[in-house]
Amino acid sequence: MLDRYGKKRALRWADVPSPDLREDEALVQVHAAGVNLLDSKIRDGEFKLILPYRLPLILGHDVAGVVVEVGPRVRQFKLGDEVYARADDFRIGTFAEFVPVKEASLALKPKALTMEEAASIPLVALTAWQALVERANLQRGQKVFIQAGSGGVGTFAIQLARHLGATVATTTSTTNVALVKRLGADVVIDYKTQDFEEVLRDCDVVLNSQDGKTLEKSLRVLKAGGKLVSISGPPDPVFGKQIGAPGFVKLVIRLLSAGIRRKARRRGVSYSFLFMKANGSQLREITRLFDAGVIRPVMDRVFAFESTNEALAYLEEGRAKGKVVVKMK
Ligand SMILES: NC(=O)c1ccc[n+]([C@@H]2O[C@H](COP(=O)([O-])OP(=O)(O)OC[C@H]3O[C@@H](n4cnc5c(N)ncnc54)[C@H](OP(=O)(O)O)[C@@H]3O)[C@@H](O)[C@H]2O)c1
Repeated sequence: MLDRYGKKRALRWADVPSPDLREDEALVQVHAAGVNLLDSKIRDGEFKLILPYRLPLILGHDVAGVVVEVGPRVRQFKLGDEVYARADDFRIGTFAEFVPVKEASLALKPKALTMEEAASIPLVALTAWQALVERANLQRGQKVFIQAGSGGVGTFAIQLARHLGATVATTTSTTNVALVKRLGADVVIDYKTQDFEEVLRDCDVVLNSQDGKTLEKSLRVLKAGGKLVSISGPPDPVFGKQIGAPGFVKLVIRLLSAGIRRKARRRGVSYSFLFMKANGSQLREITRLFDAGVIRPVMDRVFAFESTNEALAYLEEGRAKGKVVVKMK
């Protein structure tokens, strides 16, 4: 449990009652939980304005496990089903023995994957799907630049983009060049020794996950009409509207992204911020890709549940190759 927001504040062990199950939810016994930077950022208090959680709070967005109870309105899942999900905002809490998940956010887990592998997938896979398929409408033959190809989002996004028939460029450091090539990257830029701006041009889509400087440089590798989708901010007014932010938050959001939106307009490209959402039907499509062997999980480390704080700290070092997961038993 998180009692108070604070940078690197340790989560505390607690015995709590089983969570209440709503009519449209299934109770999942957690076998493994994926760890995401979103968990760290919420803990640190960085998301207070966007996701105003009430504390104490159980963190954890990704889960793989078994359905042990279903609400009366649940139709598609039954006891014993092996499932996975990205839990909905304001209903998170997968760093626990049980978590209720809305039926609409749940999917059957890919058959060939272990629980740990399955738990590593939902948040990053849905992020890549919502950025490349839903937002950018990435097409066969187009050129996409996916930053940080060796990370949680990157390892999935490269494989998805290749599956969609796009040419993929990515950045990583020397040690991970072979990994991203194996995943299907066509152009690999070692960011320690090369500047992507000098290598890339005329991209149709950029998936930005890095800092403000990288975001600005990304504008210059797009062709006219290209799309810059950022998952690391700054948030844009459409996002402010989507989350129903109060007036002053909307204003802050507008100001934060004013510069990049103006520069994008001048270059004839579009800028949008994506904050991914839970989505069971997209996750079912993703399950099919794993079942068909089109995409495979990339796992860095599995920690014991007792070491959840260590798992978060490890991820925060920023060197993970693929995903970090905690395992219940
Ligand atoms: N908005 C959303 O919905 C959403 C969803 C998911 C993630 N995110 C955000 O997206 C970002 C990435 O998430 P993630 O889960 O993929 O992170 P991650 O797994 O922690 O990323 C780690 C990877 O990043 C690489 N890396 C670090 N610095 C780099 C640089 N300057 N250039 C290229 N690669 C670099 C590292 O490779 P090396 O060791 O080789 O440097 C490492 O493999 C985070 O800020 C996260 O919060 C947002």
